[in-house]
Amino acid sequence: MKTPNICQCVIASLLSVTAASWAQTSVGLGRVDYRDNCASCHGASGKGDGPLRSFLVRPPSDLTTIAQRNGGTFPREWMAEVIDGRWSGDGGPHGSREMPVWGQEFKARAMTRPGDSAQTAEWSARHRIESLLRYLETVQQP
Ligand code: HEC
Repeated sequence: MKTPNICQCVIASLLSVTAASWAQTSVGLGRVDYRDNCASCHGASGKGDGPLRSFLVRPPSDLTTIAQRNGGTFPREWMAEVIDGRWSGDGGPHGSREMPVWGQEFKARAMTRPGDSAQTAEWSARHRIESLLRYLETVQQP
């Protein structure tokens, strides 16, 4: 039997550490982004009881029961579209939707960083939405 050399072992363990911290960072990023951008309406715990609630016509959704309301599975792609908002056909800030159009918002914020191309900004917006989804999955009630 051929034993793996030390180098292969080191690479393998480096890769697994990177993969683990990547996943962690993502949920962590989502949590921070949630606190900074979403908690004002949806509440610190996601129950829809943020301080801006009383100023809105439509109550912000309870984000901890998304899976529950969807037969026990978290509808990832659908929620990605709801959060992004650019393809919802719901008219954005001037339509019936009261939720900010986060795809546009995150992209616009990334575009203000010097040297960032539209493509990098798009990637950054999607990455943030992906992190938010990962975080939201962790707050779902059974
Ligand atoms: C200005 C208040 C406000 C902010 C800030 C806000 N939301 Fe919302 N959100 C709402 C409202 C109101 C709804 C209900 C649907 C509507 O308005 O059309 C909603 C709906 C949602 C839904 C759909 C839930 C479901 O069950 O269908 C998701 C997911 C969501 N918001 C995620 C987020 C995330 C993630 C952020 C932060 C990046 C955020 N929201 C920030 C007001 C807000």
